[in-house]
Amino acid sequence: MYIAQIISGKFGEIIARQKSDADIELGQILVAEDSGIKFFLQVYDIQYGSQISKQNLELISGMSLEENADLEFMDKNLRNYKIALLKPLMILSSSGSKLSKSMPSMFSLLRDLNDKDMDFLSKPKNSLFLGNLRSGSRMLDAKIYLDADNVLTHHILITGTTGKGKSVLMSNILWDLSGKAGMLVLDPHDEYYGRNIIGLKDHPSGKTVYYTSRNPPKGAISLKINLSVLRPVHFGCLDFSDAQEQAMNAYYKEYGNKWIEAVILEKPVKVNFIDATINVLKRRLMYLLDLDFSDSQLFCNGVFDIASGLSTVKSICEDLENSKTVIIDTSNFSGQIELLIGSLIATEVFNKHKHYKMQGLLNEKPVISIVLEEAPRVLGKEVLEKGSNIFSSIAREGRKFRTGLIAITQLPSLIPREILANMNTKIILGTEMMNERQAIIESASQDLSSDSRNIAALDKGECIVSSNFAKFAIPVKIPLFKDYVKDVKKDSSPKDFSGVGIIEE
Ligand SMILES: Nc1ncnc2c1ncn2[C@@H]1O[C@H](COP(=O)(O)OP(=O)(O)OP(=O)(O)O)[C@@H](O)[C@H]1O
Ligand SMILES: [Mg+2]
Repeated sequence: MYIAQIISGKFGEIIARQKSDADIELGQILVAEDSGIKFFLQVYDIQYGSQISKQNLELISGMSLEENADLEFMDKNLRNYKIALLKPLMILSSSGSKLSKSMPSMFSLLRDLNDKDMDFLSKPKNSLFLGNLRSGSRMLDAKIYLDADNVLTHHILITGTTGKGKSVLMSNILWDLSGKAGMLVLDPHDEYYGRNIIGLKDHPSGKTVYYTSRNPPKGAISLKINLSVLRPVHFGCLDFSDAQEQAMNAYYKEYGNKWIEAVILEKPVKVNFIDATINVLKRRLMYLLDLDFSDSQLFCNGVFDIASGLSTVKSICEDLENSKTVIIDTSNFSGQIELLIGSLIATEVFNKHKHYKMQGLLNEKPVISIVLEEAPRVLGKEVLEKGSNIFSSIAREGRKFRTGLIAITQLPSLIPREILANMNTKIILGTEMMNERQAIIESASQDLSSDSRNIAALDKGECIVSSNFAKFAIPVKIPLFKDYVKDVKKDSSPKDFSGVGIIEE
């Protein structure tokens, strides 16, 4: 039953000798029980240990390699062993759970964590399911939930190298939250709705709305947005120059919601801009918005239109307010158009929430969360050096207005520290690159300084959840989307939700 014993060390670096038949892994959680208190400790490194001097070890190995000598020691397991380095996660006593501030006594015996140890956890009322508790690569039955409202309004960052399971996790989250929060998903890979496979379209809540400009399947809405709803501020996260932005503002001031037409038809403005500025602006807008003009007439070829789409943004905002999941397929758009549409909708949603707050109505509204793939495109240092945009504003002050971001990226190091620190829940999947790990570790809610190796070793679907709303950085195994959906469907009795959650007290 016992697999290791504490032999020395210090707080944050407890050293335990492993029993010869145990196979301790990185990330594994061990439990020491000492005078009625349970100490939860986590393995962050493993080493060899031996009673035999280094010189003798080298000699013995030489004899084995060079002379095929038989090296059976009488007391092999006593003399050679593995050492696990452990850090304290939390302690559990009759008065509840809290962060560790003390250590178990020396020679305390350590056993593996089991499901009974986690009985103390409770599930928050409005919950977000992330996966099962994990000890090393072993999955426990205990389900991990966080408080959905808190976590969503304080932003989530999902990071991990390509292929480690960010999108699978995001699908699970969207499925779990369907009908519980307004979710706006900009989907550059068209992977969440599930055109041909199981996806959000199959959720029994019926609260998925899908916009696409590419062969809309049954139940989808063809995406059209009227040019007149675009304002210069929506172009904030695109790389327009200062002069071009000033020109846009001048046109907007003079021509109101017909400003884009006015630029393209080269109508006069009072402010004098050099011809080159207006020409470049005109060409860029035409290219970006897919517009043409001949005989002083404007033709729209893309998503942006003059004849239709007047109420699109309004109805998306309404859907979000009704806790729907609005998925916008941006797979056939340029990145710039995707960002323009995202910025347009995010601005409207955010302004509406600000308005509700002023009227004292905000608390009746569902939380709104905006899912951004490849988040550094709008939250990267380079973009933000040129000025803030709607997404960085939401990252900074969204929580006051019940609006949050779920930023997904492989490259968190591109996001400024201040923004990373504002993302109060980080879901960290396997990350091999040292500087990316460093960026997350430095901005995490818990001290992850000894977890770098552990993060590098995470397999597909394994993650560490570091959150202001959890007591410790929780190791989690994320289910595959199709298994998760099957599970929920198979057993939707209340029993299914009897799992546990880790919440801040
Ligand atoms: N929780 C999981 N359990 C088991 N396998 C998984 C899990 N999540 C993902 N995988 C496997 O990894 C593959 C890639 O997952 P996914 O598309 O979610 O990665 P990603 O991190 O979004 O990659 P990218 O950065 O390229 O978008 C999946 O097709 C699946 O086979
Ligand atoms: Mg992905």
